Amino acid sequence: MTPESTAQAIPLPRSHIDPAEEVVVRDAREADLAAIVAIYNEAVASRSATAQLEPVEVEERRPWFAEHSAGHHPLWVAEYGGAVAAWLSFHEFLPRCAYDGTAELSLYVSANFRRRGLGLRLLREAIARAPHLGLDTLVALIFAQNEASLRLFAQLGFNRWGLLPGVARVDGAPRDLVILGRRV
Ligand SMILES: CC(C)(COP(=O)(O)OP(=O)(O)OC[C@H]1O[C@@H](n2cnc3c(N)ncnc32)[C@H](O)[C@@H]1OP(=O)(O)O)[C@@H](O)C(=O)NCCC(=O)NCCS
Repeated sequence: MTPESTAQAIPLPRSHIDPAEEVVVRDAREADLAAIVAIYNEAVASRSATAQLEPVEVEERRPWFAEHSAGHHPLWVAEYGGAVAAWLSFHEFLPRCAYDGTAELSLYVSANFRRRGLGLRLLREAIARAPHLGLDTLVALIFAQNEASLRLFAQLGFNRWGLLPGVARVDGAPRDLVILGRRV
C-alpha cells in the first residue's frame, strides 16, 4: 500500500472539506430554515458575531426569510455533502428607496465547517452576482472584536467606512460596530 492510499483510507474528520466534493451555492428554501437557524444560533452563543444575545426559534425567523427575494435580496446556502454548511443573506440596508442599490450582507458558517474557504466562496459569489441583483454597493456591520469576519471581508476588498463606538452592550460591556463597505 502506498502512503497515498493509506491516507485515503483514513476517514475524514467531520469538518474536513474534501476539495473533490463540490460545494453547491443555491437559493435557500423554506425547508433549509431549521439548518440556517441552527448555524445562526451557534454564532449567538459565541456572543461575538451578532447583537442577538438569545437563541432564535425557526418560527420567529419566517418573516425574515420571507423578506428575501431571489432577484434582489437573495438568501443563499452553501451545501456540502448534502448538508447546509453556511448561509449568506442580502438584506435591505435602510427602508428608503434611495438606498435600493445598497444591500447589507450577513454571512454565517457552521462551526464544523469553518476555515475551509466556505466564507470566502460565498462572499466572492455575492460580489460577483451583486450587479445582476440590481446592487452597486455592499455593506456589512461587524463587531470591532470579530477579527475573523473583519479579515475575511478585508481580503475581498471591503474597506472600513465607519465606526459606531459603544452602540451595543454585550454582558454589560460596550461594543463598537464597524461598518464595512465595497462598491461592486
Ligand atoms: C467569519 C466566518 C464567516 C468565516 O468563515 P470561514 O468559512 O471560516 O472563513 P474562510 O475559511 O473562508 O476564511 C477566509 C479568511 O477569513 C479570515 N478568517 C476566517 N476565520 C478566521 C479566524 N478564526 N481568525 C482569523 N481570521 C480568520 C482569514 O483571513 C481567512 O483567510 P486564510 O484562511 O487565508 O487565513 C465564520 O467564522 C463565521 O461564521 N463566524 C460567525 C458569524 C460571523 O461572525 N459572521 C459575520 C457577521 S455578518
